[in-house]
Amino acid sequence: MSQRAGRRTLPAAIVVGLCVALAGCASPGPLTAVDATGSPSSSASASPSAPEPTPSDPPASPSASPTDAAPEPAPPPEPAPAPPAPAGFDSGQRSIDDPASLWVVANKLRPMNPAGFVPPDLAYPSVENANGQPLRAPAGDALVAMFAAAAAEGAGGMRLQSAYRSYDTQVGVYNGYVAREGQASADAQSARPGHSEHQTGLAADISAGSSCILAACFADTPQGSWLAQNAWRFGFILRYPADKVPVTGYMFEPWHFRYVGTELSTELHERGIRTLEEFFGLPAAPGYAG
Ligand code: DAL
Ligand code: ZN
Repeated sequence: MSQRAGRRTLPAAIVVGLCVALAGCASPGPLTAVDATGSPSSSASASPSAPEPTPSDPPASPSASPTDAAPEPAPPPEPAPAPPAPAGFDSGQRSIDDPASLWVVANKLRPMNPAGFVPPDLAYPSVENANGQPLRAPAGDALVAMFAAAAAEGAGGMRLQSAYRSYDTQVGVYNGYVAREGQASADAQSARPGHSEHQTGLAADISAGSSCILAACFADTPQGSWLAQNAWRFGFILRYPADKVPVTGYMFEPWHFRYVGTELSTELHERGIRTLEEFFGLPAAPGYAG
């Protein structure tokens, strides 16, 4: 990136987003590190308690008892169509399993491992930041450059709505959706704890700062439209496209951009591949295993 974010890096364990309500929560202001309870904190503390890992294995066969009759195996999840092998691009050069990898693929079938993973290099990008949440340093640098380019190219100003969310913060977010809308609706729009890309520190929810905040109509704003067209130039991808719900398992989120680095985002752009699942030939993840 040609532009570097002015930022300060904090020990990852003390950086937890204060506000879990995503929209209209806190007006931008001085950033304060908080502990997992939301209290201001100035000293390093232990890592957030790691909850029991979420099972990642596919559901067990419905009939496991041995019989003479051949059991009917449970059908595996429908694989996403694998693209042809790319020439000149090594799709194995980074891990898609390591939560610290820029290419990690987290979805309903691929939980964070370990469940309580905390990114190593969280920092605050110098942008308007509604909830005061950090991003991993490379993602934050790219976000600063992207916001600057958007303004320079006439798309208007942008605001970071939500960024890194710890496992514990995601517990609050997800449970809030369940309480308000029920589990089915929650699962269509909010990841269960341990499954959210926000826990990687590589996902940014972006708004225009005025209206259509975390709403589908953001796609029709100058900011949303510009991002959909240009985010790849800065290493971001629109992670939950409208026409990929059966692959990603989440409704259209025109505000949610995932940093993967420009090498991969450019490859995806040039080949017209819209999801990480399809690019890496991973199973579609419309629902949770088990
Ligand atoms: N809204 C996205 C899917 C998340 O909760 O991570
Ligand atoms: Zn998001």
